[in-house]
Amino acid sequence: MRKGIILAGGSGSRLRPLTGFISKQLLPVYNKPMIYYPLTTLMLIGIKEILIIINPGEEVLFQKLIGDGRKFGIKITYKIQEKPEGIAQAFLIASDFINGNSSVLILGDNIFYGDGLIKKLKKANECENAATIFGFRVKDPERYGVIEFDKNKLVKSICEKPSLPKSQYAVTGIYFYDKGVVNYAQTIQKSQRGELEITDLNNIYIKNGNLKAEIFGRGSSWFDTGTIDSLLEASNFIYNLEKRQSFKIGCPEEAAWRNNWLNSDEEESLKKFNYNNEYGNYIKELIQLEEK
Ligand code: DAU
Repeated sequence: MRKGIILAGGSGSRLRPLTGFISKQLLPVYNKPMIYYPLTTLMLIGIKEILIIINPGEEVLFQKLIGDGRKFGIKITYKIQEKPEGIAQAFLIASDFINGNSSVLILGDNIFYGDGLIKKLKKANECENAATIFGFRVKDPERYGVIEFDKNKLVKSICEKPSLPKSQYAVTGIYFYDKGVVNYAQTIQKSQRGELEITDLNNIYIKNGNLKAEIFGRGSSWFDTGTIDSLLEASNFIYNLEKRQSFKIGCPEEAAWRNNWLNSDEEESLKKFNYNNEYGNYIKELIQLEEK
């Protein structure tokens, strides 16, 4: 069974002063805490066992919001990352949790949306013996890990924040790995900026001929909400879509219900959902009126 990891630590320095007192991944993106979006993405793929990696001192807040995950029909555990020493460090912190299984890592500040997108992610979830990453065409690739393709459109290499990007395709923050990932992560050295780079891990898979890169097409949206502008853009995007469609994006209660992960008592308690607001009304109406 593939295990899920949400990386929700980091200094959040680009979002100061917003992040001086609270974890970035608990900030609102329109009407929900940021972490609800990656959490719901994992749930929609079918991942039930999830480790959330957080900064020291922040567990009490995550516990208050998400707890052990039972209310969403999943199992959540937490681990601390003492210092933000790189995304690939997640696999060293998570090695006991992964316990020889395949895994999927999602960055706590990444939001994915689009028709057919979950289908693509589910396909990667089924592939147990290779790594899969997802590229997305952007106009500012130098902000990200960038994919270089060979003439057959296969991945040749990935470069972290290159000044001269070799393509327009950024590596998004969702990564599927086989059970070898912890061993590979143990061989990585810190980069010049003092981090264990996810890009170095992916380049090991490329060298072994074991990395697939899928592309999210034009009908998909991806936000890395790590800057003030992208946080606002993501909020506006969610606001516009939710108003137009009257479906919520990134709603873990809905994902749990649609996946049939709640027992009858838990479904009953959703019918009486106690938020006396639009979110609560949405859940109550969903359970009573919608078909799964
Ligand atoms: O969003 C996709 C990009 O994410 C990729 O294209 C890049 O290859 C990858 O390096 C990463 O780039 P960022 O510059 O966005 O990484 P950042 O340092 O902002 O970290 C991403 C998230 O992970 C952020 O929510 C904080 C968290 N984090 C980061 C580090 C380095 C941790 O929890 N611990 C860490 O040690």
